[in-house]
Amino acid sequence: MKNETVIEILEEANTEIASASTSERLQELKIKFLAKKSVLMSLMSELGKLPPEERKSFGQMLNETRTKISALIEQKETEIRKQELQKKLEREEIDITLPGRNADVGGQNPFYVVKDEITDIFLNMGFEVADGPEVETDLFNFELLNIPKDHPARDMQDTFYISDNVLLRTHTSPVQAHTMQVAGGKPIRIICPGKTYRRDDDDATHSHQFAQIEGLVIDKNINIGHLKATLELFAKKMFGEKREIRLRPSYFPFTEPSVEVDITCANCDGKGCSMCKGTGYIEILGGGMVHPNVLKMNGYDPEVYSGFAFGIGIERVAILRYGIDDIRKFYQNDVRFLHQYRKKA
Ligand code: PHE
Repeated sequence: MKNETVIEILEEANTEIASASTSERLQELKIKFLAKKSVLMSLMSELGKLPPEERKSFGQMLNETRTKISALIEQKETEIRKQELQKKLEREEIDITLPGRNADVGGQNPFYVVKDEITDIFLNMGFEVADGPEVETDLFNFELLNIPKDHPARDMQDTFYISDNVLLRTHTSPVQAHTMQVAGGKPIRIICPGKTYRRDDDDATHSHQFAQIEGLVIDKNINIGHLKATLELFAKKMFGEKREIRLRPSYFPFTEPSVEVDITCANCDGKGCSMCKGTGYIEILGGGMVHPNVLKMNGYDPEVYSGFAFGIGIERVAILRYGIDDIRKFYQNDVRFLHQYRKKA
């Protein structure tokens, strides 16, 4: 009788487990057939009441049945889990044929591309990068550069004043004075890229904020040949091996002699075209030999030391390099403009 009950339980378990299709249902069946209160388990607890000769074989039967049911449940469990995962994957199917969202990659403003290029050219020549404040004193921006208070050269460099003697620097040249004062009479070979300001009305060629790269070399026996060779190398590296430079006399209070440096026009190779206004040359920078007064005021003996300095307009170089027609474009952050100069990977 008891044996039959056990066989029935196994059969019942078999059918019910086979037809279960969810893990919840399977959990219910686990309780129904294997929990303490299940028929099988209550038979197990009554084993002790049986005569010893029956106890062993019936006990064995109960154990085997329990193991079988457990195995059936386990098997079904894996099956159901697989099915459920499959269903979930089908439900959450990813359509890999959909066009993806574009990750919009930014690019450097051409201004910075050119600034870095110029800097690298001079670093390769052995220059170091120096720095100086954008808010300057009258002393450093003008006086230590041989531009006293009443000097007419100041008219060209009107700027934004913070107080009578504090202003936004009009050029990077004050870094010359700062560097000389810190170097304390030792040789110098620096460039300084940085922002500069002037009280200009903004138009295609003027901006109240622009940037320069200052250059300064001081040592014994430095002459204008060094200036020319340095700038020639710069021009060729920046604009191409075929470019030639020419020095024209000019005037800056802090250099003597002073020069304006032109390069042969890349558009016509120096023959003359509309870009160079028929001259074959385009002006790129100003420079000269450091004025003895400037050397003296900043701690160098002009009898022993000499030097050259130059100032390059960064936007001007970028404009020439890329054929940009309006200086304001560098600052307007129009992505259509910026994307054109994105460096190709
Ligand atoms: N500071 C000058 C300018 O802004 C350029 C310059 C720099 C000239 C160094 C000579 C030497 O116009």
